[in-house]
Amino acid sequence: MPRVVGHADDNGAHAEQVSFERAGRTVDAERAGAAIGVSGACENRAVFVVVGVTGGIAAYKTVQLVRELIRAGHDVHVIPTDDALRFVGLPTWEAISRNPVTTSVHDDVARVRHVSLGQRADLVVVAPATANTLARMAAGLADDLLGTTLLATTAPVVVAPAMHTEMWGHPATVANLATLRERGVHVVGPADGELTGGDSGPGRMSEPEEIARFALGLVDADVRDLAGLRVVVTTGGTREPIDPVRFVGNRSSGRQGVAVALAAADRGADVHVVAAHVDAHVLAAASAHPRITLSRAGTTAELQTATTDAAATADIVVMAAAVADYRVDRVADRKLSKDGSDGTLTLTLVENPDILAGLAAERRPGQTIVGFAAETATGDELLERGHRKRARKGVDLLAVNEVGWQHGFEVEENSLLLLAADDDAPAPVRGTKRRVADALWDAVLLLR
Ligand SMILES: Cc1cc2nc3c(=O)[nH]c(=O)nc-3n(C[C@H](O)[C@H](O)[C@H](O)COP(=O)(O)O)c2cc1C
Repeated sequence: MPRVVGHADDNGAHAEQVSFERAGRTVDAERAGAAIGVSGACENRAVFVVVGVTGGIAAYKTVQLVRELIRAGHDVHVIPTDDALRFVGLPTWEAISRNPVTTSVHDDVARVRHVSLGQRADLVVVAPATANTLARMAAGLADDLLGTTLLATTAPVVVAPAMHTEMWGHPATVANLATLRERGVHVVGPADGELTGGDSGPGRMSEPEEIARFALGLVDADVRDLAGLRVVVTTGGTREPIDPVRFVGNRSSGRQGVAVALAAADRGADVHVVAAHVDAHVLAAASAHPRITLSRAGTTAELQTATTDAAATADIVVMAAAVADYRVDRVADRKLSKDGSDGTLTLTLVENPDILAGLAAERRPGQTIVGFAAETATGDELLERGHRKRARKGVDLLAVNEVGWQHGFEVEENSLLLLAADDDAPAPVRGTKRRVADALWDAVLLLR
């Protein structure tokens, strides 16, 4: 838990005392409310945040991160590396953070600055975190102010890696990340998307709003609208085996379900994620979250067992997994061969149990059941299908997800229609998967 903010240390000269006073006051509600996307956690208390910035193009996005933290009333101290200053200059960091900015351990020595910021921090966020800085952190190097601060702090540390996909996937980076995770460092992202060189893939820094929400969610329990609730979220696509090598699956990446789980955990819920097929990098932030436990399921039958078990003690269940409607009736023991084939292969598919309808039918008193429906219809037809499906499944809320060849799957943005029993034609919620996840939780809370 964070230390109390608001007591000056012996070395605190005027400038730092001013910022301490600012840090110690209760945050002005209007300003906190103005912080787009950072509401929820930490609305009542200013947090002493150190933001480390390292040398990647994504440093420009960190300007927005610092802005959001400041607008939410937090006390932000930016520590750029020398290389970071080649991307965004020192005056920018000073102006937006409203605190002095230095990079070297030899600056401001009278205030023992090389350790004092780390000692006083409630939270340290490194964004973007370059491959180089992750390596330096893993090795415990302390040859600049960010390095000494990271070694001096006992506050939660969050890194938001950003780099090209090849650098992200390099065994050295993978090993460094594993070391950091073992030490309790929290990792947000990276997202999958367009990179600086025009290529695309995992390596893009998460959006500032997502980093802020995740980081603040770690340090303050004052205002958490889902605190005390036990939540189950399923995610990813189930896979039905054909033989030991092949399966029938779907295009779900699990991103939306992971965003739903992270949003709930950041807002204070204890979250159990049942993950079907989800890539490791998509699951990474959820795996690292202190309030998320994770179990895995391959097939629809496995997902049903894991979810039903977890739902027995849950207040809210969100079925965001893309469950295969059908499975192969007879799974071959050995790989099916083309030898002797007449050029065709006939598989018989049988219907899987309807997990969502089953959970809704057996819901405990007070339990809220939320379903997801992926639909390729649009407009009025989408709405009609959504309403019919919500009623048929008997769920409290149905998130209707418009999907198609180009949208819905494997992308960062989403559009959801959130349908409860009395919602005739609600406006779709659009934005990052994290943003629509928060809108979903707002809708769930209105129902409870
Ligand atoms: C235009 C440009 C963009 C870069 N972007 C990244 C990046 O996104 N991620 C990364 O790990 N390194 C990136 N680098 C390389 C780092 O700047 C370099 O490794 C540097 O030593 C990092 O230092 P630092 O970690 O101390 O800030 C980039 C370099 C250049 C010239």
